[in-house]
Amino acid sequence: MNDSFRQQFPSLSRQHNGGRLVFMDGPGGTQVPQPVIDAISHYYKNSNANSHGAFVTAQETDEVLDGARAAVAHFLGAEGPHTISFGQNMTTLNYSLSRAVERLLQPGDEVLITQLDHEGNRGPWLALRELGIVVREVQLKKDGQLDYEDMAAKLNERTRLLALGYASNFMGTVNNVQRARALTYKVGAWLLLDAVHFAPHFPLDVQAIGCDFLLCSAYKFYGPHVGILYSRPGLLDRLPADRLRTAAQEAPYSIETGTLNHAALAGVKSAVDFIASFGSGADYRSCVVDAMNQIHHHEIALAKKLYTGLSALDGARIIGPPIDASLRAPTLALHTQSLRPEALARKLAGRNILAWDGHFYAIRAAEVLGLLETGGVTRLGLSAYSSEEDVELVLEGVRACMG
Ligand SMILES: Cc1ncc(COP(=O)(O)O)c(C=O)c1O
Repeated sequence: MNDSFRQQFPSLSRQHNGGRLVFMDGPGGTQVPQPVIDAISHYYKNSNANSHGAFVTAQETDEVLDGARAAVAHFLGAEGPHTISFGQNMTTLNYSLSRAVERLLQPGDEVLITQLDHEGNRGPWLALRELGIVVREVQLKKDGQLDYEDMAAKLNERTRLLALGYASNFMGTVNNVQRARALTYKVGAWLLLDAVHFAPHFPLDVQAIGCDFLLCSAYKFYGPHVGILYSRPGLLDRLPADRLRTAAQEAPYSIETGTLNHAALAGVKSAVDFIASFGSGADYRSCVVDAMNQIHHHEIALAKKLYTGLSALDGARIIGPPIDASLRAPTLALHTQSLRPEALARKLAGRNILAWDGHFYAIRAAEVLGLLETGGVTRLGLSAYSSEEDVELVLEGVRACMG
């Protein structure tokens, strides 16, 4: 994306130790553009109230919530705002969902998770083991991709749900959700996708995928800390979620507990508007898709450059699949012979390069790949605001740090 895109992010020009910061930490949360900051501040300055009141600020609050649902529905390609629920974050929503699903299951029913997923899409489902639900996991292969033969073998007529990541936050692997959908249809299991790492990098289309549930988090795509749940029309209404007698009993509200973060939701709508403003098309959804395609092409071109440069360094290895747009998000998991990931991240921080080290809660993947004892990996995540210069600085930085 061009300079005018970057200029919208105030933090990109902040100074630290006499220089600017290079943000490679997007997979842990992206920077926020000025319009999103303004939307949050505008809400507090003008419309701060609870919802469903007879007075102006409450009515404006209702508009904020409705607007956020509508914008996110367009972002995900959903059937409409009634399919979009909000929560504190993805993990909390997934726990609420697993508790609701649990009430429909019988001991001996099965849920399938994967070794590649973030714990946010494993823990809530693993908890069902206490109730006699059989929870199996799809194996992760050494090349960083899931074993689809294993997935097929573990899906059976007792499987009620497959909880699958769309893209790995550990090393960027994009999973074959079409194949997973075809396999789950065969046995009549629901498909739940964790799109937290996918959503910032690719256009999403929940109706084309035909998924039953999809979760993502706005703070990964230039918005504030809000979790998002898409549920296929009609599905949430059938789920006995934890809910107060006084709360709305139907989708999308039935899984939302208590008062939402209204100001943050003003920011969520603004984040999707911001993305859409960089695309072109006949309607809002087409603008979102066009902008996400532009973001994807921009990021993947930079990721390829970084991948090629890092691969050429002696003693450096990139974990995971090749940098092919259909196989990988623009997220590189780096392992070096000379430095533990934490030491490399600290040295990079000394050069104003912000990169996470560790397992990033995808602890099972790190464990299976034998990377846990050595501190995981150093993760370099490209975002829409990343630039050619950032890639050069990172390459130069890693080279210098490795000595
Ligand atoms: C792939 C993936 N899933 C789930 C989560 C958890 O999201 P949240 O922080 O919204 O609970 C993360 C957070 O990093 C993630 O990257």
